[in-house]
Amino acid sequence: MPARAAASALLASLVVLPLVAAADPTPARQSELIHLLRHDCGSCHGLTLKGGLGPPLLPGDLEGLPQEALAAIILDGVPGRPMPPWRGLLPEDEVVWLIGRLQAGIDDAD
Ligand code: HEC
Repeated sequence: MPARAAASALLASLVVLPLVAAADPTPARQSELIHLLRHDCGSCHGLTLKGGLGPPLLPGDLEGLPQEALAAIILDGVPGRPMPPWRGLLPEDEVVWLIGRLQAGIDDAD
């Protein structure tokens, strides 16, 4: 493998690794995050996440979208669009956990 390809493969694994290695938030923090999802994110994406000003965030809508791309949207926002950046408010591992929950689906019991 040319050195350059090896270097970029190494770089890719360094970028992806923290996402995979992240531990789940504590149960108390998980409830806070679900609350934030419904109320803060829900103010644009709909209380039931079926869409509003922002697109729907139900499992079928996020299916097949890479977690890294979704994490980048949530952390950095979408410039020029209403989607705000959450970096500084939500650490990366919590964002990754939220994406997992969105992709799995959140039911009313959560
Ligand atoms: C002020 C309104 C607003 C808030 C608050 C908001 N969003 Fe968004 N969000 C948007 C808009 C508008 C878009 C579409 C951006 C575009 O046009 O590309 C978006 C896009 C997204 C996307 C990409 C969806 C896709 O199908 O590509 C995700 C994921 C997302 N938001 C998650 C969140 C999460 C999680 C929160 C809370 C932590 C949140 N958003 C809070 C307005 C908002």
